[in-house]
Amino acid sequence: MVFLSDEQKSIQQMVRDFAETEIRPAVQDIEQDRQALWSIWEKMAALGLTGLQFPEEYGGAATDSVSYLLAIEELAKVSASVAVTLSVHTTVGILPIYEWGTEAQKQKYLPPLISGQKMAAFGLTEPNAGSDAGRGLTRADAVNGHYVLNGSKIFITNSHLADIFVMTARTERDLPDHKGLSAFIVEKGVNGFVVEEGDGKLGIQGSDWGTLVLEDVEVPADNLLGTRQQGFKIFMNSLDAGRISIGAMSLGIAEACLADSLKYAGERRQFGKPLSDFQAIQFKLADMAVEIEAARHLVYHAAQLKDAGKPFSKEASMAKLWASEACMRAADQAVQIHGGYGYTKDFPVERYFRDAKCTELVEGTSQIQRLVIARHLL
Ligand code: CAA
Repeated sequence: MVFLSDEQKSIQQMVRDFAETEIRPAVQDIEQDRQALWSIWEKMAALGLTGLQFPEEYGGAATDSVSYLLAIEELAKVSASVAVTLSVHTTVGILPIYEWGTEAQKQKYLPPLISGQKMAAFGLTEPNAGSDAGRGLTRADAVNGHYVLNGSKIFITNSHLADIFVMTARTERDLPDHKGLSAFIVEKGVNGFVVEEGDGKLGIQGSDWGTLVLEDVEVPADNLLGTRQQGFKIFMNSLDAGRISIGAMSLGIAEACLADSLKYAGERRQFGKPLSDFQAIQFKLADMAVEIEAARHLVYHAAQLKDAGKPFSKEASMAKLWASEACMRAADQAVQIHGGYGYTKDFPVERYFRDAKCTELVEGTSQIQRLVIARHLL
């Protein structure tokens, strides 16, 4: 059992109510229509959810990380697509600017992002550089007091709806690995910056993703984030926080799997009695509950370390690894408990199953999390 403060409980309840009243009726629309996602976004912005944990001076609510994660978890119980949108915006989108930006960059970019007037996105992955994120080929050449960016980024969440992108580009051509990467803030609308539709995806179908194409995009030198060659570290550091957030999203999906399975097992009768009377089903439910509880502890523990200013990279990877794999197992069992009906679109577990898979891939695959954990151990 994780003990929550009164403030954390009140944020949890507020987001739970919002998700039930505003998101649940629109879930199918969100899955099919980007405009429906934007409508929900505007409502989340009005509630102050788009920058919960950032300081009041930039328009945030100055909550702790656990409060923010409770919000992600509650959203994910109803719509993983909405949860991942907020997660990317807040952690890997805004956080690099908040943690590494100059005061001028913060004053310019944080208020509209934290208020939700604008959305943020994060550009790291490239066609040749997924897990090996330090090998991106997008170039940034210093020319007459600005940088000229050329290249492309794929699988970018929030790409059409976002206005502000933090992205890596190679400033040192002679250094082909992570040492040659710098980080930039790029605004949508500049010449040569085009967002293309992403390929159709298995799950989180309501989340917005696409490909960023950069052709001679001029970025002011002032939009360099941190110092030259610091890009990889800025992105790895931000991903540590992002991974806890994806852990909370996994937790929310897994809890939805358990809640729906409990309900169905109580209602569905076979062989003259409810499914919940069969020990084979009870064991599945028990395993799901234990794995969810373990995930909750790992996720909130990593967040508490972060808030305490302690190292949390290993714990973030542990939280994301366990929570995402527990989520996938919970979704698998939820479909199994629902039997043939679970394989149809008549029951949400079909969507949970597809959404769950993404948690094992985004912001570092399970194999990358194991690699990070092992490197810390060794
Ligand atoms: N924080 C700060 N610095 C870090 C760090 C961290 N968490 N992890 C590594 N570094 C530093 C290291 O100290 C090292 O510094 P020096 O050069 O000074 O020695 C440097 O970064 C390189 O570290 P590694 O040698 O460990 O780097 P690597 O090339 O072996 O890569 C990796 C390590 C863990 C595999 C990393 O590449 C990685 O995390 N890959 C996965 C990328 C990923 O998660 N992509 C998801 C993209 S976003 C997404 O999913 C889509 C979306 O829209 C959300």
